[in-house]
Order: sequence, then structure tokens, then C-alpha cells
Amino acid sequence: MQSFIYDIPTKVYFGPNQIDNNLSNELKKFGNKVLLVYGGGSIKKIGLYDKIINELNSANLQVFELSGIEPNPRHTSVNKGAQICKQEDIDVILAVGGGSVIDATKFMAAGRYYNGDTWDFLIGKAQFTNALPIVSILTLSATGSEMDTGGVITNTETKEKLGNSHPMLRPKVSFLDPTNTYSVSKYQTACGSADILSHIIEVYFYSYDAMYMLDTVMEGLMKTVIKYAPIAISQPDNYEARANLMWASSWAINGFVGQDKKHAWSCHPIEHELSAFYDITHGLGLAILTPRWMKHVLSSNTVDKFYQFGVNVFDIDKNLSKMKVAETAIEKLESFLFKDLNLSDNLTKLNIDDSHFETMAERITKDGPLKGFVDLSKNDIIEIYNACL
Ligand code: NZQ
Ligand code: ZN
Repeated sequence: MQSFIYDIPTKVYFGPNQIDNNLSNELKKFGNKVLLVYGGGSIKKIGLYDKIINELNSANLQVFELSGIEPNPRHTSVNKGAQICKQEDIDVILAVGGGSVIDATKFMAAGRYYNGDTWDFLIGKAQFTNALPIVSILTLSATGSEMDTGGVITNTETKEKLGNSHPMLRPKVSFLDPTNTYSVSKYQTACGSADILSHIIEVYFYSYDAMYMLDTVMEGLMKTVIKYAPIAISQPDNYEARANLMWASSWAINGFVGQDKKHAWSCHPIEHELSAFYDITHGLGLAILTPRWMKHVLSSNTVDKFYQFGVNVFDIDKNLSKMKVAETAIEKLESFLFKDLNLSDNLTKLNIDDSHFETMAERITKDGPLKGFVDLSKNDIIEIYNACL
């Protein structure tokens, strides 16, 4: 029986030029001191930085800056941000960038109220007691961090990449302007699209009672990514394609489609170990892993869900045998990821060998099998990694 609470309070401004006036008005609701956080400089190249600074200056907001947030953001950068928030008594954090920047600000926001290393939030040593409000301006469609409660941080000293979430980390306001993603490279567009697709797959493949309405929404979201990602790659300034990917990225993971599903995800924890050890792009890791995970868990017990996926998402002939539909669906997914998106199709091409697979699988299963659509033991995970070579 489905039962859940719907509570997705991020206010979204969608479309071009929404930051004009609206950005400063929204920020002022939280105070006058703004910490502007961004990454390695893409926002300067596209002119967004100047636009934001003009807007904030003309509203007389006091702006502090932290740049250089890394892809796969480091806990050391989060600590820096939390420190500035404390020292300068910041009222609101403005995150401008992709998932890495927004994720990092989530733990800065909580770190403002914690006397210690922000990494403690990721290892469960610190509790979320309070957090500064976050306003985000998204520049890459992928993670859904602009509208969700979670974030993922990397500790390069311990080679760990861990996530945590809390409702108080969800951005209060997000500006989603698809034109800000025109400059995203073909590679990052492909990785981001693979990530969106994976967020839906992680929820869609579920062994218990599913809600037909939500399954149908997810099938629509998956079809949206499959239709528009190749268009965005070949025509980077196609507004329709960028807009569809952007809104799909938010709704894939903001809690709506997953609200009645309580199970843990499968490919994400397996991928986070890859990113932790090899600093690879999250979406690329997921693209390589997902079809292998599917092949590993496909059986007569699970074939029904694959059949539904194949018929409803890839329009495969429903009169074929269930297993044939399932296998064809996985082939079609591979073709989308590796041909249409042109992503590398194995880990060997990324210079990754099996030397850490045992340790990675051990860490994932340290508290027992990885629960999910099909529970995975340490050996299952090693087999999946090996199939990716
Ligand atoms: O740093 P800058 O210069 O901004 O460049 C970035 C970065 O190099 C660039 N970029 C971003 N917007 C651009 C642009 N380049 C040109 N034009 C633009 N408009 O793209 C590169 C990648 O950025 P990043 O933020 O790392 O990518 P993404 O949005 O895919 O975020 C990935 C991170 O989010 C985590 C991932 O694990 C990874 O650490 N995730 C967060 C989730 C969440 N909050 O719920 C869930 C996800 O499953 C995921 O784990
Ligand atoms: Zn993801």
C-alpha cells in the first residue's frame, strides 16, 4: 500500500533572464550577506558571473566569494566555505554551477552551525541541527541537486566519496535557465544525461508494489532524456532540448517519483567507489555500470520489470518473449549510452583495472549485502566491476 508525505518546497524560476530582479529579491528575504560559491570558472566564460555581480551590487547586497569548487567536490573546500560563513556571519549561500558546487554548499550551510570538520556530516559523526538557506543557479543538467536534499563529497585523504541528505539542505530557491547550459561540453552533457537516466532507473527498478502513475511518469522522464540528450549534444544551443533535460534532471530525483519507494539504490553506491578511487566523472561511471548491473540482476524473478521497461521506454514489440524483450532493452540502453551519447563503454579505456575491486566491494558491503532491486553480496559487486573491464 502506498503511503508517503509530499514535501518539495524549492521555489523554481525556470527560463531565460529570470535572475533579473528576482535573484536579489529572493536573496534579500534571507539577509544581506551573500556567499557566492562557484567552480573552476565556466560561469565567467559564459558571462553569468558578471550578470550576477551586477545584479547583487545594484541591490546593495554584500557579496563574499569562494571559487574553485572541484568536480567531485572535496571536503577541504567545504570546510573553507563553512569557515567563511562563520567568520563573516553569512546570511545566505548562492551556489552557481553544477551538482558539485551545489552539493558543496549544502555541507557548508550545515557546517556553519558545527564546530568541527564538515566531513563529520558524511560519516555520521555530526547531526544536522541547522543550515543556512541556499539559493542555486544551475549550469549543468545532471544531479538534481538544485531541488533535492542530498549531496556527495569526496575525501581524497581517505579515498572516500560519501553522500548524506537532510530536508534542511534542499535549496530554498533555484534558477533554472536552460541557456546557461548551452556551453556544457558534449562529454559533460552525455555524462549528465546518463546520470539523470540512472536516477530514474534506480527508483523504477523496484521489487515491491509500484504505483502505476509514478511508473508512467518515470517512463516519460526516461523517454525525455533518450529523445533530447542526443539533440543537445549535436545542437548545444537547442533550447527545447536543454529545457527538457534541465527539468527532467530536477524531477528525476527531487523526491517525487521516489516518494513511495523505500529501497536503497544499487548503481550509485557502486559508482561512488569508482569516483572515490579514480576521480572519474559520476555519469560516466554510471553509464558503464548500469547495463552490467542489469545483466547481473536479470532473471526469471525480475524479468517482468525489464519487460515493462523495454515495451514502455524503448517501444519493443510486446509480443516477444519477456526475456527477449528484457535483453533487447539492455542492448538498446547500451546503444543509447555508448553510441548516441558516445561515452566510453568500459573501465579499461579509463585505465582502471581490477586492483581495488575487492576493497571497493568490501566497503560497500561492510554492513551486509547492498539492499536494492536485487540484494548484492560482495562477490556480486566484484562480478559487476569485472564485467565492466
Ligand atoms: O567548475 P566549472 O568551471 O564550473 O566547470 C564544470 C566542471 O568542470 C563544468 N560546467 C558546469 N557548468 C558548465 C560547465 N562547463 C561549461 N558550461 C557550463 N554551463 O562541468 C564540469 C562538471 O561539473 P560538476 O558540477 O562536477 O557536474 P555534475 O553536475 O554532474 O555534478 C557531479 C557531482 O554531483 C554528485 C556526483 O557524485 C558528483 O560529485 N551527485 C550529486 C547528487 C545529488 N546532489 O543528489 C546525486 C548524484 O547522483 C551525484 O552523485
Ligand atoms: Zn547520480
